[in-house]
Amino acid sequence: MKRLYIETVGCQMNVLDSEMVVADLRRHGYELVGTPGDADTVLLNTCSVREHAEEKIYSQLGRLRIDKASRPGLVIGVMGCMAQKDQKIIFDRAPYVDLVVGPGQLHQIPELLDHVRQGKGRQMAVSLSRTAGSLESIRRSHETFDPLRDPTMRPTPYQAYLRIQIGCDKFCTYCVVPSTRGPEQGRPPAQILDEARLLADQGCKEITLLGQTVNSYRFVDGNQVTTLAGLLRQLHQVDGIERLKFVTNYPKDMTDDLLGVVKELPKCMPYLHVPAQSGSDEVLKRMKRGYSLADYLAMMDRIERILPEAAVSSDFIVGFCGETDHDFAQTVDLVKRCRFKNSFIFKYSVRPGTKAAERFADDVPEEVKQARNNQLLALQNEICEEENRKFIGRSVEVLVEGPSKLAVKRGDHGPLVQMTGRTPCDRIVVWDGNSRQAGQLLPVTIHDVNAHTLIGSAVTADHGPEIFSILEAPAKERR
Ligand code: 5AD
Ligand code: SF4
Repeated sequence: MKRLYIETVGCQMNVLDSEMVVADLRRHGYELVGTPGDADTVLLNTCSVREHAEEKIYSQLGRLRIDKASRPGLVIGVMGCMAQKDQKIIFDRAPYVDLVVGPGQLHQIPELLDHVRQGKGRQMAVSLSRTAGSLESIRRSHETFDPLRDPTMRPTPYQAYLRIQIGCDKFCTYCVVPSTRGPEQGRPPAQILDEARLLADQGCKEITLLGQTVNSYRFVDGNQVTTLAGLLRQLHQVDGIERLKFVTNYPKDMTDDLLGVVKELPKCMPYLHVPAQSGSDEVLKRMKRGYSLADYLAMMDRIERILPEAAVSSDFIVGFCGETDHDFAQTVDLVKRCRFKNSFIFKYSVRPGTKAAERFADDVPEEVKQARNNQLLALQNEICEEENRKFIGRSVEVLVEGPSKLAVKRGDHGPLVQMTGRTPCDRIVVWDGNSRQAGQLLPVTIHDVNAHTLIGSAVTADHGPEIFSILEAPAKERR
């Protein structure tokens, strides 16, 4: 038995890729271990979206160099976006790395690891760059890797990510993704449905569809075009699946048709992650996001009108090239106005090879980026807490994930364990319950909150018929 340790950073797409690679390697005789010290094969699944994430990987590689000095048989592989972006540079900076594999070649990993073990030397497999051939050949070189699912590999057996789209064609000027993950390609609906049915058979209740711009999903077969709205209609019919979510959305492609389908179909959760990135038209233009502040606000109005129960979350980049105090103030205004369920806030990080790196100076000083980051985060946290307070005294429907991180850390045992789960709008809930609740859809009454968590108590049907009214609580919570 070979022993694999895998470390994953970055987005949900990477989490899913790691799940797939681990499942594949298990079928090739590997077992998963919890530390690099116990492993004979270490894989790092990497992210290139910000420089900091890359530097962390290079430091981790530095530590692995010491491990390898004492255990020369240790095989070290770098996979994911940084592998695609840096390619040979990884071997130059860390010559003891054996394997570099881009996101489009993950299916080759078992074979490439065999080659390393057979003494064939370093192995590298990456996709064509976006200018290295015809669109068709570039597309083909980015292969999605979605083999048969291994239910034991998921964080919880009741939830799964399902990839519906790879790549991105939006070319926002700051972003490295269109080059690391290649052209946007929708997977065929029939494949997606087969995978959803398989997941349902394995006991999965919640599927989160993944794509860089998931709502731009299109699959063309002859004269038949499938959009995300159409795909959701098909997935809605899969028995056993109770909840459907999808991330990440692109503001321009948030159609009324899609919002209408989310409204109409009870299994579609009213949670929309639609990154705004900035509230300033000047900045949005330089980012080449393809919409103005007014367009974004008009989209928010449509969401409010069609899907008033929806919770919207966002991403922001602060300190993008040329961002003035006035630009930033407009971002602050946008956050105040939209009262997002939550926002992920990032300091701009120059990515070599992107249009922004070529065209604009990274001229906002680090201290200013940090101050803007802190200010926006403080505002968003205040909003989160205020919005969460509205849940006190109300019952929400939670899909139970299992014991909370705290319970696991404390090693809770006994009748009461702190459990965690999520509401339809993706809010995190904790309560004192028991492990048997895992996988259930459970009403939880909220009695306390903080900015990031709803704290409640759960009542189950075991407690007698008098609480049945709570079980009839609305499935979709209101914003
Ligand atoms: N610098 C900082 N943040 C970035 N993001 C993407 N590229 C960069 C960059 N160069 C952020 C965006 C995106 C999220 C996944 O990462 O906000 O939505
Ligand atoms: Fe990057 Fe823009 Fe594509 Fe998102 S939409 S992955 S930010 S290029």
